Amino acid sequence: MNLVVVSNRLSRGNANEPMTGGLAAALLPIVEKSGAIWVGSSGRVRDGAQKEPFAEIEALGTGALAMLDLPAAHYGGYYEGFANSALWPALHSRADLIRVSQGDYLSYREVNAFMARALLRFRKPDTVFWIQDYHFLALGAELRDLGVTQPVGFFLHTPWPAREVIAGVPHHRELAEAMLAYDLIGFQTEDDYENFAGYLSSTLGLVVADGVVTSPHGKTRIAVFPIGIDAEKFARQAARAISHPDVSRLRRSLNGEKLAIGVDRLDYSKGLVNRIKAFDQMWTAQPSLARTVSLLQIATPSRGAIEAYGNLQSELAKLVSDVNGRHGEVDWTPIRYLNKGFSQTVLAGLYRTAQVGVVTPLHDGMNLVAKEYVAAQNPADPGVLVLSKFAGAANELDTALLVNPHDIDSMARTIAMALSMPLLERRMRWEAMMIKLRHHSIQHWFASFVDVLELARAERSVVVQDVVEPPTWWPLRSANG
Ligand code: G6P
Repeated sequence: MNLVVVSNRLSRGNANEPMTGGLAAALLPIVEKSGAIWVGSSGRVRDGAQKEPFAEIEALGTGALAMLDLPAAHYGGYYEGFANSALWPALHSRADLIRVSQGDYLSYREVNAFMARALLRFRKPDTVFWIQDYHFLALGAELRDLGVTQPVGFFLHTPWPAREVIAGVPHHRELAEAMLAYDLIGFQTEDDYENFAGYLSSTLGLVVADGVVTSPHGKTRIAVFPIGIDAEKFARQAARAISHPDVSRLRRSLNGEKLAIGVDRLDYSKGLVNRIKAFDQMWTAQPSLARTVSLLQIATPSRGAIEAYGNLQSELAKLVSDVNGRHGEVDWTPIRYLNKGFSQTVLAGLYRTAQVGVVTPLHDGMNLVAKEYVAAQNPADPGVLVLSKFAGAANELDTALLVNPHDIDSMARTIAMALSMPLLERRMRWEAMMIKLRHHSIQHWFASFVDVLELARAERSVVVQDVVEPPTWWPLRSANG
């Protein structure tokens, strides 16, 4: 088998470089070892005069990285536009933030079609294509239009929301139709699966039976594959990183004070405003906690050209400065707030230094920071994870202190409780989480998706004559249903 993995963002394989987002960080170690070709955006654009999609190729472990320059005329409409101003807010149940235009949608489709053409050069008879995330919902359909008959699977790293929310994206039907060209569609959680299956039956009138939906494209299997991490490797990295200069400096600066840590992209789905308010509330309600615990919040800037992200950055900067102004002392800063990225190596050491990890998104596909925080802990004296019940990770990490990120008072009380939790309880909770992390490793995620994809393709070719009659709306390439 020749595996071709596709995602918008790539990672070049240096554990000492800052990493943006869980997807690239998660894929890197397994792609390196699997011998796959990993294709994605180079981050550069080119004008439309190019005849062939330009790809710079470099070795990555036993495989290769292919970095494509995307078309300049469509990049903005695709990335800042449709992917991150229409799909991202919808997928995270923020219909109020959806900004959409027909032009952006067309650019999104153009980039999906461009990527499909670029992938043809990597196709061999035994190739398996695995497409990642919401940037490429329509890529499978574009590949099929180009005559690709090899297995093509798709994994969504974000949630799939309730039917009424996705319907806020005017092109939802044609996108869902395009998705059914995939042989296998993977989700992070049962809820995402149920929402998608519910959408297919209630909005598209299709029947989903035993995880299989039959459409004019043939059969598509849908299934749940919660993404994991390499917990043992991360633990080793964390133990080593404790002597990294950045980590040692942090430890020295604490003077014995406790530390809570939050590490997020600066994104409205991450619940950062509510988190800062919860710390404010905690220090107000329990003044004795001033000087005994501070928060290190790393908020890596992301998608800054989009208005909602710019607004959030300003709101957070103001809020943090207000909280620091009210609770701070000449020799004590309650919140250390950093707008930059850190390497996996340094992050591992920072997580191990912190007695509390706060991961409180309003909605998140999985959230690998939660898993990494747990894996990084010292087994003899582990920290406590405070985790939003609306992160996919809460399904497995159910012995974390689970919180509702909208309930600021309760979050404040829970963080205080985490700070005073006895060692025995901390160890019991942590050990239970580590068992789950070891069991649901990234290697297991990767291998089980690829296995089910090959099976799903085999099922599909058996029944290819048995396709259903197209419903009246099928295919809707240009309407805004
Ligand atoms: C999330 C998405 C990824 C994305 C990452 C970083 O994790 O699911 O697909 O790569 O955020 O976002 P960015 O826009 O910076 O690539």
